[in-house]
Amino acid sequence: MVIMAKLVTLILLLEAMVASSFPGRLSMDYYVMSCAFVEPVVRNIVNQALEDDPNLAAGLIRMHFHDCFIQGCDGSILIDSTKDNTAEKDSPGNLSLRGYEVIDKIKEELEAQCPGVVSCADIIALAARDAVFFAEGPYYDIPKGRRDGSRSKIEDTINLPFPTFNASELIRVFGQRGFTPREIVALSGAHTLGVARCASFKNRISGGQAIDPTLVDSEFAESLSRTCSAGDNAEQAFDATKNVFDNLYFDALTRNNGLLTSDQTLYTHPQTKNFVEAYAFNQAMFFFDFQQAMVRMGLLDVKQGSNGQVRVNCRKVN
Ligand code: HEM
Repeated sequence: MVIMAKLVTLILLLEAMVASSFPGRLSMDYYVMSCAFVEPVVRNIVNQALEDDPNLAAGLIRMHFHDCFIQGCDGSILIDSTKDNTAEKDSPGNLSLRGYEVIDKIKEELEAQCPGVVSCADIIALAARDAVFFAEGPYYDIPKGRRDGSRSKIEDTINLPFPTFNASELIRVFGQRGFTPREIVALSGAHTLGVARCASFKNRISGGQAIDPTLVDSEFAESLSRTCSAGDNAEQAFDATKNVFDNLYFDALTRNNGLLTSDQTLYTHPQTKNFVEAYAFNQAMFFFDFQQAMVRMGLLDVKQGSNGQVRVNCRKVN
């Protein structure tokens, strides 16, 4: 009887350990001994910054995606170009990223509290998570312990998905990173926040006419033309509530009002359409799937041990 009880306790303990540790020695309590206040520090600075400018929530979430998709989640998006190297952040697909100053501020505070301990890659992941919550989205716990990379090259950003991609292309490129069509739809739901510039959707219209077969709503096509009449940098929101994390993005897709080709296409493909409909109907389901997919995205090719470093200044390799 006693042996049995001990066995059960052991199994439960092992299960708990497995549940809290992730590939690459990431864990939920990674900084508990070395920098116990990392999460409140990040949260406070993110909250302050977003109170001043709520648009930055979108920027921080997108930054995490662009970091993880190129060279893994290693903070490489933050590295500044030098005279010998043009970094990821200066590629056309990254020029409209925003929120770098928020990350700098967090890093400065953490370096003051626990020097050389918290990686820039973890800071981006935590800031993105807190930005989702600030915008009224779901809150989720994320494993920590990512190390920073030292490579950041403009040419690597060719691997970012293009806004002109159709669903089959999205399924292929995300599939190469191990994501399912369901996860692609959930992650695209990040477009419930923020804006795109005309440059990102002008492929859909020509001379005021829709030339993208997924652009079937003529009034919406007109609104895209109107935005573009103000130039390539003119912005349009993805949905009616650009600073609120909700399911209106999916509602827009079901009404054929998706902003990018890569958005609207999700409502045309048999492997993604049902999820668009489900999330438009059920926000709780979207929130649940989004958290899970974000945790998985945050584990992409994470560096461990001597494969990485903890940068002292997120903009420079040590
Ligand atoms: C499915 C493939 C995706 C494509 C092709 C794509 C493409 C784009 C493009 C072109 C923009 C507008 C950029 C501009 O015009 O300045 C944008 C904005 C944005 N993207 Fe994505 N994206 C994708 C997936 C994601 C994912 C997975 C996330 C995060 C988890 C994300 C988060 C965002 C956010 C929040 C914005 C608004 C940024 C702002 O307002 O500053 N995107 N995306």
